[in-house]
Formats: sequence, structure tokens, C-alpha cells
Amino acid sequence: MSETSQDWKNRAIDAFMPLYSVKDVILQRGKGCHVWDIDDKQYLDCIAGIAVMSVGHCNERVINAIKDQIEKMTMCSGSYQTEPKIMAAEMLIELSGGMNQIFFTNSGTEAVEGSLKLARKWAHVNKGEDCKEIIAFKNSFHGRTYGAVTCTYKSVKQPEFAPYLPGVHHADFNDLESVKSFISDKTAAIIVEPVQGEGGILPATEEFMQGLRALCDEHKIIMISDDIQAGMGRIGTLFAYDAFGYKPDIVCLAKGLGGGFPVGAFLAKKEFSSAFKYGEHGSTYAGNPLMTRIVLEVVDQIRQPEFLQNVIDTGNYLMEGLHKLKTDTNSIEEIRGKGLMIGIDTVYDIGKLLSALEDNGLLATQAGAKSLRLTPPLVMSKTEADEAIDKIAHVIQKGDL
Ligand SMILES: Cc1ncc(COP(=O)(O)O)c(C=O)c1O
Repeated sequence: MSETSQDWKNRAIDAFMPLYSVKDVILQRGKGCHVWDIDDKQYLDCIAGIAVMSVGHCNERVINAIKDQIEKMTMCSGSYQTEPKIMAAEMLIELSGGMNQIFFTNSGTEAVEGSLKLARKWAHVNKGEDCKEIIAFKNSFHGRTYGAVTCTYKSVKQPEFAPYLPGVHHADFNDLESVKSFISDKTAAIIVEPVQGEGGILPATEEFMQGLRALCDEHKIIMISDDIQAGMGRIGTLFAYDAFGYKPDIVCLAKGLGGGFPVGAFLAKKEFSSAFKYGEHGSTYAGNPLMTRIVLEVVDQIRQPEFLQNVIDTGNYLMEGLHKLKTDTNSIEEIRGKGLMIGIDTVYDIGKLLSALEDNGLLATQAGAKSLRLTPPLVMSKTEADEAIDKIAHVIQKGDL
């Protein structure tokens, strides 16, 4: 007899460290904005691997590129260069509108880690040995390796993993006075998400981001933009910073960059990237020909004006539908977001709401303490946005949560 979802779930509970809640659903396949479980039940995927599946599940161009590349070469040492790696690097540098050099990574946290090392090295050489402090923000998320997790606000409440990186401060988000209170001769860098994702989909104001840029210029502090969740088209611009009118000194990318494959990158202005010397940073798999071939294929789709316009149009359409639902019911408290990165606060227990949505064929995640987060593939159509609104409305209007 074939195994049921419950059998698979029990096996998962036994096999894996208890770091994630194990859902009832065992996923099997996906196409575009939909996924199916092992019982062939269809779901609208508003998680998308947590803001990862930028060009949708099983994107034809990506599949064909992988098939082609896998027959040629998948891996070589970082000392050797390949055509896909050089082309992907040049494409991102050109599209960034200000960055000059890149280092590919395997994940977002590694992009953050590398950027922190680069910032500290530059500051050490150019501003003095004591200039090592980093300003991050309350409610931030930057990853889970030790440098990145120290910048992640949650670390403040997890002393059991200490000692963390010394010299990291958490200022209030969207509050320049709070940032100023931490700036000193020892400040090497400020790391910021233009839209805080895990923190609850909290967009910065343009005034704040431009104010940070001005403070960094004034004090010769490196501005690191963590575009890992909000970048690569998620909020309607290829680089998230372009939606806010600033240029960082270093930008971190991952998630949507690989459209479902593990790849990240950090790019920097040459003035800063030249601080790295031979052998000071690296990673075995970073920039391998398979991942960079995928990057080329993914970014070449996202960069198209009509692709980005779809994110803006569908995002606005989804927002309008959600605002109408807010007016029609008493159960939505607040809706925030930009493009296809949306957070909804409701009166319901978020765990129960997510389960009810899952039962009703919609996958979504939690962000912050209580927000329902929608980060569907960026290829979402208005029909699929209607499907999302209908499914949320059905669950909310039933009111038995
Ligand atoms: C803004 C931001 N930075 C960094 C990361 C870490 O990326 P990864 O999980 O690929 O290490 C994430 C992941 O959620 C993120 O949202």
C-alpha cells in the first residue's frame, strides 16, 4: 500500500531536527504559480519558497538552460572562470547602475557575511583598526551564519547562542535620530533591508533610506542594502534600492536571483571591493557554471520592463482586492507592502489562519509576530490574484477561526 501524507509526515518528524513546523501537506510538483501535493491537491503558491520562485515553478527557459549546462559543465574551482559566470557577473553589474564588482555566493546569509567582511576590511584599512561597528535595525533579518545572525534582531533575544559578533547595534527602523545615536568614529557600516521581510513586511520610507545614504556619505560609513528578499523584481524594480531613490555601496542578493536554485551574490563599488585581497574570501561552490547559467536565464526574464510592470500591476490589483476585503469585513487590521511583497495583519491567530488557508488551497507564510505574508511568484496574473483574494475572503468570511 502506498504511503499517506501522514506516514510521510511522521517520517519527516523522526528524520529532521525540529527547526521547522512540519506541515500536513507533502508537496510534489509545481508549475507557474501553483503547486500540487502527493494527493494531487492543487494550491496557489503565495509562499514561492519564501520569495524565491521569481519566474515561477518549472520555468521553461530555466529548465532548458539547466539541461544544456548540465551536459557541459556544472562545477569548477573559483580560480577558473567560465562564460556563464562572467556573463552573469557583467549583466548584474550593468543592471545595478553603480556597482563595479561581484562575488557569487550559495545563499543569502553568505552574501551578508561576505559584505560584512568586506566592510570591516575596508574600514580597518581606511578608517582605523577600531572602526568595526555595524548598525543594523530592530525587526531586521539578515540570515543565520554568525555575522548575519548578529545583525538579525532576533539574536538579541537568543542569548543561548552567544557570544555573537561584537560591535553590532540595532537602531529603530525608519528613525534617523536613532541611527545617529549609534554613529561614531567606530562605525564601519550600516546594513538595512529597504522592506523588512521576516520582520513583518515593513517598508522603509524613501526619506529614511535617502537619509541613511546622506549619513553614510557624511561619516564615510559603508551602506549595505540587503535586497535579498525585496530585490530581483519582488517590489517592481530589479534592485530594491531603485524603488527608494538611493544607491548603496554594497548590495546583497539571493532568493529571486536563482529562481529556485541556491545562489546569492554581493556587489560593491570598486572603491570598496578593492579592499579584498587574494585569498581573503571564497567558497567552493560559489559562482559555479550551473548556478550562474541559471542566474543569467532568471535575471534576463526579470529585467524585462513588461515583467516588472506585471509585478507592479498585479501587486496593485492584489492590494486593491485586499483593501476591499478589509472594508467588507472587520477582520483585517492593516495591509502593508510593495509589489508582490504583501503583509496583512488580521484579528485571527496567525497559525490557525495559515492552516485554514492551506486547507482552502492557498499557501502563505507568517512574517513578524502576526502578519500573513504573500510573496507569490512574480509571474502571477490578475486571474491568479483574484484566486488569492477569493481564497482569503472565503476563509476570513467563514469566521470560524
Ligand atoms: C532580507 C534577508 N536577508 C538575508 C536572508 C538570508 O538568506 P538565506 O536564507 O538564503 O541564507 C533572508 C532570508 O529570508 C532575507 O529575507
